[in-house]
Amino acid sequence: MAERLVIEGGARLQGRVAVSAAKNAALPALAAALLTTEPVVFENLPALADVTTISRLLERLGAEISKGAAGETEVRVAELKSDEAPYGLVSTMRASVLVLGPLVARSGRARVALPGGCAIGLRPIDQHLKGLARLGAEIRIENGYVEARASRLKGARITTDLVTVTGTENLLMAATLAEGTTVIENAAREPEVVDLAVLLQSLGARVEGAGTERIEIDGVPELGGGRHRVIPDRIETGTLLTAGAITGGDVTVTGVVPRHLSAVLGKLEEAGVALEMGEATIRARGPERPRATDVITQPFPGFPTDMQAQVMSLLGRADGTSRITETIFENRFMHVAELCRMGARIETDGASAVVRGVSHYQGAPVMASDLRASAALVLAGLAARGRTEVSRVYHLDRGYERLDAKLAQLGARIWREP
Ligand code: EPZ
Repeated sequence: MAERLVIEGGARLQGRVAVSAAKNAALPALAAALLTTEPVVFENLPALADVTTISRLLERLGAEISKGAAGETEVRVAELKSDEAPYGLVSTMRASVLVLGPLVARSGRARVALPGGCAIGLRPIDQHLKGLARLGAEIRIENGYVEARASRLKGARITTDLVTVTGTENLLMAATLAEGTTVIENAAREPEVVDLAVLLQSLGARVEGAGTERIEIDGVPELGGGRHRVIPDRIETGTLLTAGAITGGDVTVTGVVPRHLSAVLGKLEEAGVALEMGEATIRARGPERPRATDVITQPFPGFPTDMQAQVMSLLGRADGTSRITETIFENRFMHVAELCRMGARIETDGASAVVRGVSHYQGAPVMASDLRASAALVLAGLAARGRTEVSRVYHLDRGYERLDAKLAQLGARIWREP
């Protein structure tokens, strides 16, 4: 029986909590270790199910992974044992597709299962494949697998049809070992892309422009080893701040990079949350009742889709009506039905949701459907009157390191039950 989270709502969260390293930076960074035969040491990998999944995949491909004393992890792919990412693994975590670019760049061949859709949408990888073909890879799709072959990748100009985070990351990694110069136009500008570029540069790659829509890479014959500290998780930071806000509490999150979540902070302030920024801390004091405001998700630096469900929980308690528009994924309102079971008044119409705020949620048994939807349900449970039970909490554990323990540390009445 999958574990459940039980929450007795109503406590105002108070105190300080440290954020973990970013899941969406750790995953591409681990995949990048495939690009070199030398060891790459990661100082602060988060203990997440998705990190475990990609680590297993890397070991299957030939990586030796060892944990150091001070919590650091060494990954070394001295030689490849396989070039295949099997469906069993890719279907559990679509980010497994991040091994595609590194494998083709390193060994000239890769066989990666096509990721099925997931709860939030179809999520194809056509842009990844078009880009690799531009770099000279022969791409074939058969039996649900992508087969990519290349004697040696050659630098090219690539313009993606849309902004794709892992698409940019896959192409960036592949280009580091291509012959000649690659320019990626319309590149994703997320902090996680920048963090990957920082890691690649420390391994000897020549990358300019990460964080802008134009990244230029001069291929090198091989990469060396290195050491990397993964950036803090801006989505977990936003989630913890929202937990303080939604309960009318006073929460300080430490170890953060405020500029990584400016759009989220702007929305929290519009909703009446009082924020104080420090060098690496953000303090959020919630209003008695949030103010309504509108949200449109956009690629970075716009409002991140990964915070859409969480901010909907906050606005579900607002004094007024808010409109939330999800422009990135076609089906990322799975949390709406469950929030309505807790008393929210939300109506969706295609990519938009109209949220008519209620003064309080009622606790209820609810079911998580994807990572961020489960976070939204936890947030609503914290503010609800009565008991909320969130089932299928494995969704939460994919992307949040001990979130229930962190919330309990802030005074939440939250625990796990089998
Ligand atoms: C990354 O997913 C994140 N995952 C997602 O976080 C995040 O929601 C998303 O970026 C958007 O910010 C990781 O970084 C591991 P995209 P990714 O490619 O790269 C379409 C979480 O909760 N598209 O930027 O898969 C796609 O269908 C997860 O932590 C194509 O059509 O997202 C989507 O509608 C969820 N063809 C849009 O573009 C392609 O080849 C953006 O997708 C690629 C993408």
